[in-house]
Amino acid sequence: MAASRLALLLLVLAVAAARHALPAAGSDAHPGYDGAEDTCGVPAAAAAAAGRMEEYGVGRILDITHAYRADLPAFAPGAVTGPVVRLRDSMANGTLYNLSELKMECHMGTHVDAPGHMNQGHFAAGLDVDKLDLDLLNGPTLLVDTPRNTNITAKAMESLNIPKGVRRVLFRTLNTDRKLMWKKGGDLSYVGFTEDGAQWLVDNTDIKLVGIDYLSVAAYDHLITAHVVFFKIPNIILVEGLKLDDVKAGIYMLHCLPLRLVGSEGSPIRCILIK
Ligand SMILES: *[C@@H]1O[C@H](CO)[C@@H](O)[C@H](O)[C@H]1NC(C)=O
Ligand SMILES: *[C@@H]1O[C@H](CO)[C@@H](O)[C@H](O)[C@H]1NC(C)=O
Ligand SMILES: *[C@@H]1O[C@H](CO)[C@@H](O)[C@H](O)[C@H]1NC(C)=O
Repeated sequence: MAASRLALLLLVLAVAAARHALPAAGSDAHPGYDGAEDTCGVPAAAAAAAGRMEEYGVGRILDITHAYRADLPAFAPGAVTGPVVRLRDSMANGTLYNLSELKMECHMGTHVDAPGHMNQGHFAAGLDVDKLDLDLLNGPTLLVDTPRNTNITAKAMESLNIPKGVRRVLFRTLNTDRKLMWKKGGDLSYVGFTEDGAQWLVDNTDIKLVGIDYLSVAAYDHLITAHVVFFKIPNIILVEGLKLDDVKAGIYMLHCLPLRLVGSEGSPIRCILIK
């Protein structure tokens, strides 16, 4: 009896010692929470507050999604999105758990448009974000820099010489140089496609995924008309509000996943590039 109790005690001590000897395995599993499980009793969230990651795997994975910050610009002059997550039940107020709720417009921050956004026929046909083609949203992509002195017109599109066969293109523009997504307040002087630029893309390229670095692929003066040109094509996907700062132009693997919001013509989307 006493001997087996002693054996059990020794086993417990050995396991405890082994746990302390382990390296910070949590750091690999949750790189954004660096050292979280190495802190012996300090909540992971406290350690995580130390920093938000933009790259993972020693720069192999680049996060091109903007964090949904309360001061993210919204689509109106000077407007910000405001808080999207609210603590509904709080341990500070005596519940045994914290529980947040999410309230947001489906076209804020880094997001995707489904064809029903500005095409009543597609909307009626049920082409919501849950029907978007994950094959198109995941695959080789080209990141290009557009001429900085113009919106994305037919002439600008032509000058980019994007080869036939390229299906996914992320367009980096003056918006990134101007750090518009980091500016507190919407700015409608952003660069985007003009109607003739959108038409040129549809007529002369195989591009079906169009990504851009501000809240709309269409320049404000062509807001509806350029979208309408794109959305005539039911299998085109527009990804807006991408974070393309500090990424080299070139070819990457793109991975974008929208939420399965049934009936919605837009969704927040998480996009990453893999080198
Ligand atoms: C906690 O309760 C106080 C007083 O009722 C309230 O003002 C506050 O908003 C609550 N906070 C949370 C996070 O629920
Ligand atoms: C729970 O929410 C409170 C605020 O009410 C915060 O101080 C605390 O850090 C949260 N705890 C966890 C485990 O997230
Ligand atoms: C692009 O068009 C917008 C209006 O839609 C305009 O405010 C902006 O100055 C234009 N940008 C360039 C670089 O031409």
